[in-house]
Amino acid sequence: MGRLKNCKIIQLPKITDRRGNITFIENNRHIPFEIKRVYYLYDVPGGESRGGHAHKQLHQFIIAASGSFDVVLDDGFERKRFHLNRSYYGLYLCPMVWRELDNFSTGAVCLVLASEFYDEKDYIRDYSEFKRLVKGEK
Ligand code: TYD
Repeated sequence: MGRLKNCKIIQLPKITDRRGNITFIENNRHIPFEIKRVYYLYDVPGGESRGGHAHKQLHQFIIAASGSFDVVLDDGFERKRFHLNRSYYGLYLCPMVWRELDNFSTGAVCLVLASEFYDEKDYIRDYSEFKRLVKGEK
């Protein structure tokens, strides 16, 4: 079967304090890869969606640092929707999984930790090509 079973919600440490809470993430401890890049999506207009691609090699970890949004994952065999709305949870995405992000709340910040530098050659932006690749692998 597909790779969706490898993608999962991970609960992060949370240091609760009346002055405000802290959550932290360490390489290979809380997430299963070394972090080489961090980027974040913000100012997403209501009704917009992002993503719409897969990666050949890239591992990613997605956190709703503020607000909420949905991540829809598709491994070519099944599709699953995850709702992210807490800053101490994140979603781990392994390579070769199609992702779409939508349902952004006002002010949402989508923080992404990635295992590689940005590389356009690592993207698969055509869904039928993605399907061909995952089905052909079996
Ligand atoms: P893309 O990953 O396609 O956005 P999304 O999947 O969120 O809709 O990236 C959009 C543009 O931003 C693309 O032209 C490349 C650029 N970009 C970088 O230069 N570096 C990065 O780390 C990322 C994530 C994107």
